[in-house]
Formats: sequence, structure tokens, C-alpha cells
Amino acid sequence: MAVFGVLGDIHGNREGLVAALDALEANGARRIVCVGDVVGYNADPDECVALVRRRCALTIAGNHDLIGLGRLDFRRCSNKAQYSLRRTRRALARESREWLASLPARHELERGVVLVHGGVRDVQQYMVTPGIIRDNAALLSEDFPGARLCLFGHSHEQKIYAVDGDEVREVAAQGLVQLDRNAISFVNPGSVDASRKHGLKLAEFMVFDSEKLTADFARVPYDEAQTEARASAGGYRIDRWRDRLYDFQRRLIRA
Ligand SMILES: [Fe+2]
Ligand SMILES: [Fe+2]
Repeated sequence: MAVFGVLGDIHGNREGLVAALDALEANGARRIVCVGDVVGYNADPDECVALVRRRCALTIAGNHDLIGLGRLDFRRCSNKAQYSLRRTRRALARESREWLASLPARHELERGVVLVHGGVRDVQQYMVTPGIIRDNAALLSEDFPGARLCLFGHSHEQKIYAVDGDEVREVAAQGLVQLDRNAISFVNPGSVDASRKHGLKLAEFMVFDSEKLTADFARVPYDEAQTEARASAGGYRIDRWRDRLYDFQRRLIRA
């Protein structure tokens, strides 16, 4: 039983990661865990790997980490993701690659508390509908008997779903939330990287107390102009001609 800082979907965004880690540590989070996607989209994959290695107690692999290593292909990626991940593959230092390759796919943080990136058995699945959550609750119970909480990432939104039998309820993920002790909860801490979001760009994360069974959701600003400028200068942003070329290549593959 402990208090954990939880973050994920960093996507090579050093400015967002530093802001989130500093805020968590200022709030006394001693053990910070990461639900994957350390790299992809932005210009600092090696720096983010180094920061996560130094300041997080545990990390699992996200689909972008696996694609960056060449362990997964681009088929289930958007054009933007594919383009930036091709750049990430060229940029990653050997030491970063070795560390990313060592990450587990899933992890039981403590009894009954499981970390996954996407779905329970599919790292690229978006857990975004009641039906998908219901299916994953069944998989969670098969793979981790007795699990009551699943911390997940990949969908980049702060979310809580409570599963009670066949019923799936979405609970507002704002501020301090008491999780239901009688349900299986699926909780997403949000995305550190906000570069693909509209409006105000904030790095998201949360504090999870496994004894009180609470999730405390937070968001902090970071220097997103710097992130964007460096991503553009570093060749991580697709132009519209390449975007069209990728669309054409996808149509050819499907034909
Ligand atoms: Fe992600
Ligand atoms: Fe992901």
C-alpha cells in the first residue's frame, strides 16, 4: 500500500515531462510509474528515456516504444505517428534502445493493481468505449485474478471507468476522486505530451493512493512553443505532401 505518481504518453516531449515530474516530486510523490509511450512525435526521445530511467521507479512498454524499436510495424499508426516514429528510429541511441527493449508489456504494481498501456492483451487497443472496457475487465480477471484496478494509457485522456458486473460507468476524472471499492476500475492518468491536443497545452498526470483508493488528477503548463519548435526543426512533423504520399501507400497496400 503506497502513494504513486502515475504518468505516461510522454512521446519525446522533454518540456512536458520535466514539468510533470517536478510537480509530482514537489507534491511528495516518491514512487513514480509510467504507463508507456516514452518516445514518438517529439524531438527528445533519448532525453526522455534518460529522465524516465532516472526518476521513475517502473515503466512498461507502449506501442510507440515498440514501433521505435522496430518490434511493431506502422500499420495501426496515423501518418503523423508513422512519420515521427521513422525519425525516432533513426535518432534513438543504442543505450536508449536497449532500455526500451527491456521494458515489460504489463506489470502488477502491487496486489490487485495492474499497469497496461493500451488494452490488457493488445498494446495498440484504445480503451474508449463501455464495450471495450467490459471485455478488458474480463481479460484482466483472467490474467490477473483478483485485480481491482487497471492503470492504462494510450488514449491520452484522463479517464475513469468503473466496471460492476456487466455495468460500465464513466466517472468524472477531475481533481481528487474516491474510486469504488466494489468495482474494477480502469484509470488513465492522461498524457504528458499535449502537442496533438487543441486549446491549452497542459502536461497531465495523477497521484494514486492504493490504500485510500484515490486518484488525484492534475495538469500543469509547460513550454509547448519550445517543444513544437524543436520538433519542427528536428524533422518530426510531417508535411502535407508526405501525408498524401502515406495515404496513397496505404491505399496501395489495401488494394
Ligand atoms: Fe501515446
Ligand atoms: Fe500508445
